[in-house]
Amino acid sequence: MDEKIALKIEGLSKVYQLGRRKEVVALDNLALEVKQGEIFGLLGPNGSGKTTAIKLILGLIFPSSGTIEILGQKHTEVSVKEKIGYLPENPYYYRYLTGPEILNFFGRIFSLPEETLKERRENLLQLVGLENSGHLALKHYSKGMLERIGLAVALLNDPEFLILDEPTTGLDPIGSRETRNLLGRLQSEGKTIMLSSHYLSEVEKISNRVGILHQGKLLALGALRDLMTEWKASDIEDLFVKVIEWSKH
Ligand SMILES: Nc1ncnc2c1ncn2[C@@H]1O[C@H](COP(=O)(O)OP(=O)(O)O)[C@@H](O)[C@H]1O
Ligand SMILES: [Mg+2]
Repeated sequence: MDEKIALKIEGLSKVYQLGRRKEVVALDNLALEVKQGEIFGLLGPNGSGKTTAIKLILGLIFPSSGTIEILGQKHTEVSVKEKIGYLPENPYYYRYLTGPEILNFFGRIFSLPEETLKERRENLLQLVGLENSGHLALKHYSKGMLERIGLAVALLNDPEFLILDEPTTGLDPIGSRETRNLLGRLQSEGKTIMLSSHYLSEVEKISNRVGILHQGKLLALGALRDLMTEWKASDIEDLFVKVIEWSKH
Protein backbone atom coordinates (compact mmCIF):
# COMPACT_ATOMS: atom_id res chain seq x y z
CA MET A 1 0.00 0.00 0.00
CA ASP A 2 1.31 3.34 -1.01
CA GLU A 3 -0.19 5.84 1.39
CA LYS A 4 0.77 9.40 0.78
CA ILE A 5 1.28 11.67 3.74
CA ALA A 6 -0.61 14.96 3.76
CA LEU A 7 0.80 16.25 7.03
CA LYS A 8 3.89 15.26 8.95
CA ILE A 9 4.66 16.86 12.28
CA GLU A 10 7.79 16.14 14.29
CA GLY A 11 8.89 17.38 17.69
CA LEU A 12 6.51 20.33 17.58
CA SER A 13 6.42 22.51 20.67
CA LYS A 14 5.00 25.91 21.41
CA VAL A 15 5.73 27.94 24.50
CA TYR A 16 3.86 31.21 24.94
CA GLN A 17 5.70 33.82 26.95
CA LEU A 18 3.27 35.57 29.25
CA GLY A 19 5.76 37.78 31.00
CA ARG A 20 9.36 37.81 31.93
CA ARG A 21 9.10 34.65 34.02
CA LYS A 22 5.74 33.15 33.24
CA GLU A 23 5.25 30.84 30.28
CA VAL A 24 2.67 28.36 29.02
CA VAL A 25 3.70 25.16 27.28
CA ALA A 26 0.73 24.98 24.92
CA LEU A 27 2.16 22.15 22.84
CA ASP A 28 4.80 19.70 23.97
CA ASN A 29 6.80 17.64 21.46
CA LEU A 30 3.91 16.76 19.17
CA ALA A 31 4.50 14.12 16.50
CA LEU A 32 1.83 12.88 14.11
CA GLU A 33 1.03 12.11 10.50
CA VAL A 34 -2.18 12.61 8.58
CA LYS A 35 -2.58 10.45 5.49
CA GLN A 36 -3.86 11.82 2.26
CA GLY A 37 -7.61 11.35 1.89
CA GLU A 38 -8.34 10.70 5.53
CA ILE A 39 -10.38 12.60 8.08
CA PHE A 40 -8.25 13.13 11.15
CA GLY A 41 -9.77 14.30 14.41
CA LEU A 42 -7.66 16.25 16.86
CA LEU A 43 -9.44 15.80 20.18
CA GLY A 44 -8.92 17.34 23.54
CA PRO A 45 -10.53 19.44 26.25
CA ASN A 46 -10.47 23.24 26.10
CA GLY A 47 -6.95 24.54 26.52
CA SER A 48 -5.29 21.28 25.43
CA GLY A 49 -3.47 22.92 22.51
CA LYS A 50 -5.67 22.14 19.48
CA THR A 51 -5.92 25.68 18.14
CA THR A 52 -2.23 26.24 18.81
CA ALA A 53 -1.40 23.14 16.74
CA ILE A 54 -3.65 24.35 13.92
CA LYS A 55 -2.18 27.87 13.92
CA LEU A 56 1.31 26.38 13.78
CA ILE A 57 0.35 24.16 10.84
CA LEU A 58 -1.07 27.17 9.03
CA GLY A 59 2.05 29.19 9.74
CA LEU A 60 0.06 31.84 11.62
CA ILE A 61 2.34 31.48 14.62
CA PHE A 62 5.91 30.19 14.94
CA PRO A 63 6.94 27.01 16.75
CA SER A 64 9.38 27.03 19.64
CA SER A 65 10.80 23.87 18.06
CA GLY A 66 9.87 21.17 15.59
CA THR A 67 9.05 20.75 11.92
CA ILE A 68 5.89 20.61 9.83
CA GLU A 69 5.60 19.23 6.31
CA ILE A 70 2.47 19.51 4.23
CA LEU A 71 2.06 17.47 1.04
CA GLY A 72 5.79 16.81 1.05
CA GLN A 73 6.91 20.43 1.43
CA LYS A 74 7.83 22.73 4.26
CA HIS A 75 4.59 24.26 5.56
CA THR A 76 5.70 27.84 5.04
CA GLU A 77 6.03 27.49 1.24
CA VAL A 78 3.53 29.66 -0.63
CA SER A 79 2.75 26.76 -2.98
CA VAL A 80 1.67 24.78 0.10
CA LYS A 81 -0.52 27.52 1.50
CA GLU A 82 -2.45 27.63 -1.77
CA LYS A 83 -3.49 24.02 -1.20
CA ILE A 84 -4.93 24.60 2.25
CA GLY A 85 -8.43 25.63 3.26
CA TYR A 86 -9.05 26.87 6.80
CA LEU A 87 -12.14 27.35 8.89
CA PRO A 88 -11.24 29.29 12.07
CA GLU A 89 -12.77 28.52 15.43
CA ASN A 90 -14.85 31.70 15.51
CA PRO A 91 -14.97 33.04 11.98
CA TYR A 92 -15.88 36.67 11.77
CA TYR A 93 -17.60 37.88 8.64
CA TYR A 94 -19.30 41.13 7.72
CA ARG A 95 -22.82 40.78 8.99
CA TYR A 96 -24.37 42.99 6.36
CA LEU A 97 -23.13 41.04 3.35
CA THR A 98 -24.97 38.13 1.76
CA GLY A 99 -23.43 34.69 1.22
CA PRO A 100 -22.60 35.34 -2.45
CA GLU A 101 -21.06 38.72 -1.51
CA ILE A 102 -18.84 37.10 1.13
CA LEU A 103 -17.62 34.56 -1.42
CA ASN A 104 -16.96 37.34 -3.95
CA PHE A 105 -15.03 39.27 -1.33
CA PHE A 106 -12.75 36.34 -0.43
CA GLY A 107 -12.50 35.18 -4.04
CA ARG A 108 -11.03 38.57 -4.92
CA ILE A 109 -8.61 38.38 -2.01
CA PHE A 110 -7.48 35.01 -3.42
CA SER A 111 -7.23 36.69 -6.87
CA LEU A 112 -9.48 34.12 -8.48
CA PRO A 113 -10.33 35.01 -12.09
CA GLU A 114 -13.92 36.30 -12.29
CA GLU A 115 -15.15 33.34 -14.35
CA THR A 116 -13.64 30.81 -11.94
CA LEU A 117 -15.02 32.75 -8.99
CA LYS A 118 -18.53 32.78 -10.45
CA GLU A 119 -18.48 29.05 -11.11
CA ARG A 120 -17.01 28.15 -7.71
CA ARG A 121 -19.41 30.48 -5.93
CA GLU A 122 -22.47 28.85 -7.47
CA ASN A 123 -21.13 25.31 -6.95
CA LEU A 124 -20.14 25.97 -3.35
CA LEU A 125 -23.42 27.63 -2.41
CA GLN A 126 -25.14 24.54 -3.72
CA LEU A 127 -22.71 22.20 -1.97
CA VAL A 128 -23.34 23.81 1.42
CA GLY A 129 -27.07 24.14 0.79
CA LEU A 130 -27.22 27.94 0.73
CA GLU A 131 -28.18 28.35 -2.91
CA ASN A 132 -31.64 29.63 -2.00
CA SER A 133 -30.44 32.08 0.68
CA GLY A 134 -28.52 34.35 -1.66
CA HIS A 135 -30.60 37.41 -0.77
CA LEU A 136 -30.09 37.02 2.98
CA ALA A 137 -27.52 39.06 4.92
CA LEU A 138 -25.36 37.02 7.31
CA LYS A 139 -26.91 38.74 10.32
CA HIS A 140 -30.05 36.73 9.57
CA TYR A 141 -28.18 33.42 9.31
CA SER A 142 -28.58 30.63 11.84
CA LYS A 143 -25.42 29.19 13.46
CA GLY A 144 -25.55 26.23 11.10
CA MET A 145 -25.78 28.53 8.08
CA LEU A 146 -22.82 30.58 9.34
CA GLU A 147 -20.82 27.39 9.72
CA ARG A 148 -21.69 26.38 6.17
CA ILE A 149 -20.81 29.73 4.62
CA GLY A 150 -17.51 29.46 6.54
CA LEU A 151 -16.92 26.08 4.96
CA ALA A 152 -17.69 27.52 1.53
CA VAL A 153 -15.09 30.25 2.14
CA ALA A 154 -12.58 27.61 3.26
CA LEU A 155 -13.24 25.70 0.02
CA LEU A 156 -13.04 28.69 -2.29
CA ASN A 157 -9.45 28.01 -3.37
CA ASP A 158 -10.31 24.35 -4.02
CA PRO A 159 -7.88 23.13 -1.34
CA GLU A 160 -6.44 19.62 -1.17
CA PHE A 161 -6.15 19.84 2.59
CA LEU A 162 -8.93 21.26 4.72
CA ILE A 163 -8.33 22.32 8.33
CA LEU A 164 -11.34 22.99 10.51
CA ASP A 165 -11.11 24.27 14.07
CA GLU A 166 -14.13 23.09 16.10
CA PRO A 167 -16.47 22.93 13.10
CA THR A 168 -19.57 21.64 14.89
CA THR A 169 -19.37 23.61 18.13
CA GLY A 170 -22.62 25.36 18.85
CA LEU A 171 -24.55 23.52 16.16
CA ASP A 172 -27.75 21.68 16.88
CA PRO A 173 -27.88 17.96 16.01
CA ILE A 174 -29.25 18.63 12.54
CA GLY A 175 -26.66 21.31 11.84
CA SER A 176 -23.82 19.08 12.93
CA ARG A 177 -25.18 16.18 10.92
CA GLU A 178 -25.28 18.40 7.85
CA THR A 179 -21.67 19.43 8.46
CA ARG A 180 -20.66 15.79 8.91
CA ASN A 181 -22.38 14.76 5.69
CA LEU A 182 -20.68 17.57 3.88
CA LEU A 183 -17.26 16.56 5.19
CA GLY A 184 -17.95 12.98 4.10
CA ARG A 185 -18.74 14.23 0.63
CA LEU A 186 -15.53 16.27 0.51
CA GLN A 187 -13.53 13.24 1.61
CA SER A 188 -15.08 11.18 -1.19
CA GLU A 189 -13.84 13.88 -3.58
CA GLY A 190 -10.33 13.11 -2.40
CA LYS A 191 -9.72 15.91 0.07
CA THR A 192 -7.78 15.42 3.28
CA ILE A 193 -9.50 16.84 6.34
CA MET A 194 -8.18 17.66 9.78
CA LEU A 195 -10.65 18.86 12.36
CA SER A 196 -10.37 19.70 16.00
CA SER A 197 -13.05 19.19 18.57
CA HIS A 198 -13.65 18.97 22.28
CA TYR A 199 -17.03 17.48 21.51
CA LEU A 200 -16.16 13.82 21.30
CA SER A 201 -19.25 12.13 19.94
CA GLU A 202 -19.21 14.38 16.88
CA VAL A 203 -15.73 13.36 15.86
CA GLU A 204 -16.37 9.71 16.59
CA LYS A 205 -18.88 9.54 13.76
CA ILE A 206 -16.63 10.92 11.08
CA SER A 207 -12.90 10.55 11.79
CA ASN A 208 -10.80 7.72 10.38
CA ARG A 209 -8.13 8.33 12.99
CA VAL A 210 -7.86 10.57 16.02
CA GLY A 211 -5.23 12.06 18.25
CA ILE A 212 -6.00 12.87 21.85
CA LEU A 213 -4.35 15.99 23.23
CA HIS A 214 -4.22 16.86 26.91
CA GLN A 215 -2.24 19.75 28.38
CA GLY A 216 -0.26 20.04 25.17
CA LYS A 217 0.73 16.39 25.01
CA LEU A 218 -0.51 13.80 22.53
CA LEU A 219 -1.64 10.91 24.72
CA ALA A 220 -3.08 8.57 22.11
CA LEU A 221 -3.11 8.28 18.34
CA GLY A 222 -4.82 5.87 16.00
CA ALA A 223 -8.08 4.55 14.63
CA LEU A 224 -10.80 5.01 17.19
CA ARG A 225 -11.81 1.35 17.12
CA ASP A 226 -8.21 0.21 17.75
CA LEU A 227 -7.81 2.70 20.59
CA MET A 228 -11.04 1.55 22.23
CA THR A 229 -9.87 -2.06 22.12
CA GLU A 230 -6.42 -1.16 23.35
CA TRP A 231 -7.78 0.82 26.30
CA LYS A 232 -10.74 -1.51 26.92
CA ALA A 233 -13.04 1.49 26.57
CA SER A 234 -16.79 1.15 26.18
CA ASP A 235 -17.18 4.36 24.20
CA ILE A 236 -15.21 7.44 23.25
CA GLU A 237 -15.95 9.30 26.50
CA ASP A 238 -14.68 6.30 28.42
CA LEU A 239 -11.58 6.15 26.24
CA PHE A 240 -10.92 9.79 26.89
CA VAL A 241 -11.25 9.46 30.66
CA LYS A 242 -9.00 6.39 30.71
CA VAL A 243 -6.30 8.00 28.61
CA ILE A 244 -6.27 11.16 30.70
CA GLU A 245 -6.35 9.24 34.01
CA TRP A 246 -3.42 7.16 32.80
CA SER A 247 -1.43 10.28 31.94
CA LYS A 248 -1.60 11.43 35.55
CA HIS A 249 0.43 8.45 36.79
N1 LIG B 1 -1.73 33.75 22.34
C1 LIG B 1 -1.60 33.09 23.51
N2 LIG B 1 -0.84 33.59 24.49
C2 LIG B 1 -0.69 32.91 25.65
N3 LIG B 1 -1.24 31.72 25.91
C3 LIG B 1 -2.01 31.17 24.97
C4 LIG B 1 -2.23 31.81 23.71
N4 LIG B 1 -3.05 31.01 22.96
C5 LIG B 1 -3.29 29.93 23.71
N5 LIG B 1 -2.68 30.02 24.91
C6 LIG B 1 -2.71 28.99 25.99
O1 LIG B 1 -2.22 27.78 25.43
C7 LIG B 1 -2.98 26.66 25.88
C8 LIG B 1 -3.61 25.95 24.68
O2 LIG B 1 -4.59 26.79 24.10
P1 LIG B 1 -5.34 26.43 22.75
O3 LIG B 1 -4.34 25.99 21.75
O4 LIG B 1 -6.21 27.57 22.39
O5 LIG B 1 -6.21 25.17 23.19
P2 LIG B 1 -7.56 24.53 22.59
O6 LIG B 1 -7.72 25.04 21.19
O7 LIG B 1 -7.36 23.06 22.70
O8 LIG B 1 -8.67 25.03 23.49
C9 LIG B 1 -3.97 27.21 26.87
O9 LIG B 1 -3.41 27.10 28.15
C10 LIG B 1 -4.11 28.67 26.46
O10 LIG B 1 -4.45 29.47 27.57
MG1 LIG C 1 -9.36 25.94 20.28
